[in-house]
Amino acid sequence: MSHIVPNAVVVRVPGKVNLQLSVGPKESDGYHGVVTVFQAISLFDDVTVSRADVDDGISIAISGDLAHGVPTDETNLAFIAAKLMCQAYDLPTDLVIDIKKSIPVAGGMAGGSADAAATILALDHLFTLGLAREDMHSIAAKIGSDVPFLLGGGTAVGRGHGDEVTSALSRGTYHWVLALSSVGLSTPAVFNEIDRLREGLDVAPPHANEYLLQALLTADAVAVGKALANDLQAAACSLRPALRLILDVGHEYGALGCIVSGSGPTVAFLVADEDAALDLTVALTSSGVIGTVTRASGPVPGARVIEVR
Ligand code: C5P
Repeated sequence: MSHIVPNAVVVRVPGKVNLQLSVGPKESDGYHGVVTVFQAISLFDDVTVSRADVDDGISIAISGDLAHGVPTDETNLAFIAAKLMCQAYDLPTDLVIDIKKSIPVAGGMAGGSADAAATILALDHLFTLGLAREDMHSIAAKIGSDVPFLLGGGTAVGRGHGDEVTSALSRGTYHWVLALSSVGLSTPAVFNEIDRLREGLDVAPPHANEYLLQALLTADAVAVGKALANDLQAAACSLRPALRLILDVGHEYGALGCIVSGSGPTVAFLVADEDAALDLTVALTSSGVIGTVTRASGPVPGARVIEVR
């Protein structure tokens, strides 16, 4: 059988919302112990990794409406992923990584982490490494807390820094309306703000919300809406008070639940169905407090190869 070595691999990868994000006290390594319930949702970046004609090292190109503000240098998480893969598996570095962005940038939806997860999977295919899931996970965890989840997607509980992922059973499809901000929030700044807000308080270690997990198991969107909880929300709202107004609009127009996604500033509204999503989109757009509104549903699978050429 002939064995054709691909020249380019395209991976499609989703963003995420955190249905629960419980944050413990800051630990000695500077990170916070968390328990989080992730859901991958249908906003996707397409990441193409190809071999370059000349070996100029790893290069990054960004395209799409949301390309603005994404670094193309060695700070891009996809670059870091490629570098770690090249070091770990002794790969040639003549690589071009083309990222078509639809996941909001610095929006609390793990867009940068998603591109890193996609790059790991793309390189596995480009060089036919046939890596085990655990091998990809261990590279992913070195890059960032959200990267391991985006390899698998779906619904999962993240522990540790969020990188120790176990998949969770979830039935049904959940419909989201997302209010995007044109200016992102820095994740470390939001974690610093939660520490400031909690100064002097005793912070309990985080636990998974069994009520939420049960609601997911029984496809009870109303109960999921009630259970949505994010400890970083107060910190994100403290740094960006306008987020409170956006959350209020969602409550007023009958969303099942409203939550800041991850470290924000994207606000995610859970609604009953596609019609409700459309109604809320119109209400949010005409409220004047939000720039861009988009819709998505979840859970969806994690990073997957969509084209090899
Ligand atoms: O892991 P990641 O690189 O995405 O984290 C970005 C920053 O968010 C960290 O440098 C840290 O300041 C903060 N963080 C944290 N605790 C976590 C995850 C992230 O304090 N569990």
